[in-house]
Amino acid sequence: MTRLESLNQTTSRLKVHRVENPRLNAELLLARSLNLSREGLYRSLHDLLQEKEKEALEKMIQRRISGEPLQYILEHQEFWSIDLKVDSRVLIPRPETEVLIEQSLPILSEISLKRNPAVLEIGTGSGAIAIALAKEVKNLFLIATDISRDALILAKENAKSAGVLDRIKFVAGDLFSPFHPTKGRAPFDLILSNPPYIIRRKISTLAEEVKDYEPRIALDGGEDGLAFYRCIIPEASFYLREGGWLLLEVVLGQSGSVSKMIEEKGNFLGPRCFPDLSGIGRVVKAQKIPVLPPSVKGGRGDLKEL
Ligand SMILES: C[S@@+](CC[C@H](N)C(=O)[O-])C[C@H]1O[C@@H](n2cnc3c(N)ncnc32)[C@H](O)[C@@H]1O
Repeated sequence: MTRLESLNQTTSRLKVHRVENPRLNAELLLARSLNLSREGLYRSLHDLLQEKEKEALEKMIQRRISGEPLQYILEHQEFWSIDLKVDSRVLIPRPETEVLIEQSLPILSEISLKRNPAVLEIGTGSGAIAIALAKEVKNLFLIATDISRDALILAKENAKSAGVLDRIKFVAGDLFSPFHPTKGRAPFDLILSNPPYIIRRKISTLAEEVKDYEPRIALDGGEDGLAFYRCIIPEASFYLREGGWLLLEVVLGQSGSVSKMIEEKGNFLGPRCFPDLSGIGRVVKAQKIPVLPPSVKGGRGDLKEL
């Protein structure tokens, strides 16, 4: 059988099993079984498929047909133009999470002119957010936490491949517990998180690829989906510098509640919500009330010029 024949046959099989984008899936699976890029596959469509390659492809087709996400099978996902390894240990980074990066960069660029920005990411998963920020801001130092040690092992691997491991410290722990006040306060310029935010009873209604394959610990946001915001928001201000920033990813319908929680905390300016490409409020951004310079508070700056 030629590679072209196998490609056509795989496409039909995936189609019968209602896999979305069957042709693209078939191309990517076949290319992976041959250790080729898609371009490489297209340049060699008339070559014969070897028995070993056929076996490798068959295993991948079976996984895909039974609903496993393509990204886990290929062990790859691109985020912010960075190649990341992903597997069942971590959530597959979503394109909408790039809004967190877009909203963080202007803040970090400004701070980086004065000092090396210090950033905390809670719930790093594959390391996507931390790695993207470290690649963009060359003097940034970051602590990336996760409760899952397995996720952190993979995140570290990704940071190494991306060449930013020397500027990211990966720490295992539950939310802020690694920074408990008795262990010392860390003054961060920016704290950000894409926490688990799915309403628990709705997890069973999610697509099979998500509910059956992605880590539940990365999805479950408690009874109302807001459990993590309730924990992160009050504690964040303790670990932020005055004038520091809190950026939280939210899902449709949550931005109002999350903004209200931040307002009620009382020591943040804002909050403002920023949409993703489909216009859905995606990132809530707020600034810890800055310490005002003496001129504004009523110090020497109040002296009138003679
Ligand atoms: C929605 S995923 C986000 C992963 C990654 N940051 C991204 O955007 O693709 C949430 C992450 O939070 C982690 N997590 C869940 N509970 C946590 C907790 N109590 N403390 C720290 N991390 C937690 C999960 O393991 C998961 O990696």
